[in-house]
Amino acid sequence: MDLGLKDKVAVITGGSRGIGKACAKELLNEGAIAVLVSKSPDSNAAAVREFEKTYPGRVIGIPTDVNDDAAIGAMTEQVIARFGRIDILINAAATVIPQDFFKMDDAHLTSLLDQKFNAAARCIRHVVPHMRKHKWGRIINVSGLAGRQPHFTVVPAALNNSAMLNLTKALATELAKDNILINAVVPYIIDTERQAETMQEWAQMTGQPEAEVRQQRISKVAVRRMGRSDEVSAVVAFMVSERASYVVGTAWYVDGGGAMTL
Ligand SMILES: NC(=O)c1ccc[n+]([C@@H]2O[C@H](COP(=O)([O-])OP(=O)(O)OC[C@H]3O[C@@H](n4cnc5c(N)ncnc54)[C@H](OP(=O)(O)O)[C@@H]3O)[C@@H](O)[C@H]2O)c1
Repeated sequence: MDLGLKDKVAVITGGSRGIGKACAKELLNEGAIAVLVSKSPDSNAAAVREFEKTYPGRVIGIPTDVNDDAAIGAMTEQVIARFGRIDILINAAATVIPQDFFKMDDAHLTSLLDQKFNAAARCIRHVVPHMRKHKWGRIINVSGLAGRQPHFTVVPAALNNSAMLNLTKALATELAKDNILINAVVPYIIDTERQAETMQEWAQMTGQPEAEVRQQRISKVAVRRMGRSDEVSAVVAFMVSERASYVVGTAWYVDGGGAMTL
């Protein structure tokens, strides 16, 4: 299937690791140009070096803190100066790991909402005016199952993920006027570095051994295993493609059947 992504310019936040990096790889495979946006300059450069071997001249990295609005503005301008357009934005940065709600004060909870939801919102605000000029755009917000299936161990992650789903739906009609299609994916237990941390935190919070937490969480997934980042990126690549031209304002579960909601 030709996804029609050749030479599309894709900005991928969180592109240095995990799900974001898998999305970058998938889009590069489809002939797109990938801009990796992540915080640590070292891991950003390492990912660019790795991709350069297979996709020479098709990938650049711009280390950027997505919690810094001015830095996102500068990153956006840098991409426009280099390529003249941004066709695709994938918001995959910044996991919010489990935290004990009862030990959080206002400032802490607010900072956690800033970490993921506000980061995605900022990127959308900066990138959309450029998509509007070209009357074509695709935006994917990487949400997470906690946004639809709350649990006390993951309140801040759930609030971020719910807010991302709400924003996706809220903006869909407005953006579609300019042929910018926004959607979300809803992954669950994807085997990334951050997932390992999540398991540890969860174990600490509940007082259970980590192996038991892992086994218990995986037992709730229909396919009885963790997902892989490339299983998320395969769905993302389709959703940002020309072939998904009637897919708007929706959220696609990539959860191995873990969701207990319709
Ligand atoms: N893994 C799962 O099971 C799962 C499930 C549901 C939803 N999700 C969501 O999927 C997304 C990706 O998760 P992941 O597991 O792939 O995470 P990950 O492996 O921890 O990767 C996170 C990426 O975000 C970047 N990042 C973190 N803070 C940043 C900041 N302030 N500014 C810019 N970049 C920043 C990291 O860059 P550095 O290299 O600089 O650290 C890295 O590239 C997250 O939004 C997460 O909530 C994941």
